[in-house]
Amino acid sequence: MLSVILAGGKGLRLWPESRSFRPKQLCQLVDEKSMLEHTIDRLKKAGSEKIIILTNQSLVKAIEELISQHPDKNNIQIISEPESKNTAPAVGLILSYYAENIDDIIGFFPADHHILNLQKFTATIEKACLAAKAGHLTTIGIKPDRPETGFGYIEKTKLEVGQIPEVYQVNSFYEKPDFKTALSYIKSGNHMWNSGIYIGKVKTFLEEFAHNLPEIYEKIKKGPEFYINSYAEMPDISIDYGIAEKSSRLAVVISDFGWCDLGSWNALEKIHPKDEYGNIAFGSDILFLDAGNCIARQKEKTLVLFGVENLLVVETEDIVFISHRDKCQDMREITHILQKIG
Ligand code: GDD
Ligand code: MG
Repeated sequence: MLSVILAGGKGLRLWPESRSFRPKQLCQLVDEKSMLEHTIDRLKKAGSEKIIILTNQSLVKAIEELISQHPDKNNIQIISEPESKNTAPAVGLILSYYAENIDDIIGFFPADHHILNLQKFTATIEKACLAAKAGHLTTIGIKPDRPETGFGYIEKTKLEVGQIPEVYQVNSFYEKPDFKTALSYIKSGNHMWNSGIYIGKVKTFLEEFAHNLPEIYEKIKKGPEFYINSYAEMPDISIDYGIAEKSSRLAVVISDFGWCDLGSWNALEKIHPKDEYGNIAFGSDILFLDAGNCIARQKEKTLVLFGVENLLVVETEDIVFISHRDKCQDMREITHILQKIG
């Protein structure tokens, strides 16, 4: 399998750790390795022969620097888009390079997940490759535990794909539903969260683009040079809205490898230990005094939180950000202001 890591997103909800020059995928949110390095290691363990990092031109230098020390750097290639047009045009760019290799299996992997059990992850990807070989555009489903509105929802059928255990044909896909709809999906018991991973034959992806995003397909056919030169004309659309919601040959592999989308500050509580008052210290020089349920990220200064609750305090090299934890989900509302700061 050729693995392509989607690494061109902005990760604004993790501002100011995640910045335009150092978006989420380049941040060290789990340990001393960045999300991108973790993704590379995971794919290597899952048996990827070659890894492509697909990103925006403005991030190429930072990514080159990051992987220059990586033991597998010779098997890693960076491909960049001239501008950000979301994931469907980005996927199309890879297809423009590989359009001749119609039977090759390609997997597209987000760079913003934390995965706990690597053995189970590998087994899941192996199953997904089997479903991909059988002609399906294959997704990985995560058992939902709350009506999250920031994810895609996959409604599975009871029809198994090619007698592969835990792999089912999909009835419908709905990207980022409103709260009421998400709640009804949780109650139905048939819906899974979409992990954002897509695996299929080149031929399958090409046919899906031809059918659902013909304006991109026309450019894929003309090869990478033409594709890149006409990038400004691409529609700004994700693979989830542009292909997954419309495809009739989705399959889903039911997974249980311990998945966490590190999309916002609050998500970090899933992977970092708390003290007895529910505080999370992210850095070694933090003191919680009569404080509860706070998240503190420290880099250079000593942080002391006294008599406060439910606060997020983030100190980076040039910014101190303080917010109520309930507001962490609303970061997108202030995106235009944050983007001006950088
Ligand atoms: N190369 C490239 N170019 N990568 C991009 C671009 C782009 O223009 N935009 C986003 N990405 C990368 C991000 O860095 C991330 O790794 C991945 O593509 C997914 O983008 P997000 O922006 O993080 O998407 P999302 O989290 O809102 O939704 C997706 O992931 C959810 C699970 O985390 C969807 O696939 C949902 O259906 C899914 O539930
Ligand atoms: Mg994401």
